[in-house]
Amino acid sequence: MANNLLKGKRGIIFGALNDKSIAWKVAELAHAEGAKFVLTNAPIAMRMGQIQELADKTNSEIIPADATSDEDISNLIDQSMEILGGKIDFVLHSIGMSPNVRKGKHYTDLNYKFYSQSLDISATSLHKILSISMKKDAISEWGSVLALTYIAAQRIFPDYNDMADAKSLLESISRSFGYHYGIKNKVRINTISQSPTPTTAGEGIKGFDEFVSFSDKMSPLGNASAEACADYCVTMFSDYTKYVTMQNLFHDGGFSSTGVTQEVIDKFTEE
Ligand SMILES: NC(=O)c1ccc[n+]([C@@H]2O[C@H](COP(=O)([O-])OP(=O)(O)OC[C@H]3O[C@@H](n4cnc5c(N)ncnc54)[C@H](O)[C@@H]3O)[C@@H](O)[C@H]2O)c1
Repeated sequence: MANNLLKGKRGIIFGALNDKSIAWKVAELAHAEGAKFVLTNAPIAMRMGQIQELADKTNSEIIPADATSDEDISNLIDQSMEILGGKIDFVLHSIGMSPNVRKGKHYTDLNYKFYSQSLDISATSLHKILSISMKKDAISEWGSVLALTYIAAQRIFPDYNDMADAKSLLESISRSFGYHYGIKNKVRINTISQSPTPTTAGEGIKGFDEFVSFSDKMSPLGNASAEACADYCVTMFSDYTKYVTMQNLFHDGGFSSTGVTQEVIDKFTEE
């Protein structure tokens, strides 16, 4: 059902680890919609993941880059423009990791070295990508940058832990940089706030399976899948959304506007 929405566009896609990753689905669809792109992930993910399979499928090259390293990002941007033959039209930031979550540290008793790593990997990395791109004038006019986020940036979801702080920072960076990059070069920057989705990062959160069912029952349309998220990302990379910038866009089946649903009430009235 491809519509050539991204025909002729060049992109960089961060964060495809395996075929459950949201970035993986975005890469498959962007390819079907006519885009050319470079895939990138942390060097360690090259060993753990199946990214080569995705590269083969989408005729794309892989450039390893740790998103916390200025040097890696700079090299990634230079090489991407060379491989793709020009400036970048779209960037997907699909990166998240919290050592505190991994090591089971409670939010009230964080390890602060881990905390700064959570923020650095999951949020500051977006600032670095944008800042280095701006200095190199690497993103085309009307280019579109998207980062994936979660509603725990606005409301408490206890087991989301310090990732909630990282997502708040990520959304703020997207808004602030969206202002500066919009004025300088008409580059638009948005976050997409996605439903809980069964991926490696998602499943790392405590009680994730129960939480997915709760969220599904609290969303009039049900949870949005990774494939549906890819549909939305491709639309946001296309020329049909040119004046959308500095927004946090909920892609969650209505969860964010719902106080309660009959299905959830029924759960509490079951005998
Ligand atoms: N899965 C969910 O429930 C859900 C919901 C809302 C938002 N998100 C967000 O979507 C994004 C993608 O996550 P996903 O669910 O597809 O899981 P995923 O585990 O497939 O992707 C996370 C990616 O981050 C990469 N990464 C970690 N450290 C890195 C570093 N230093 N440099 C470069 N890359 C690094 C990993 O290698 C991996 O590819 C994340 O930002 C996540 O927080 C996920």
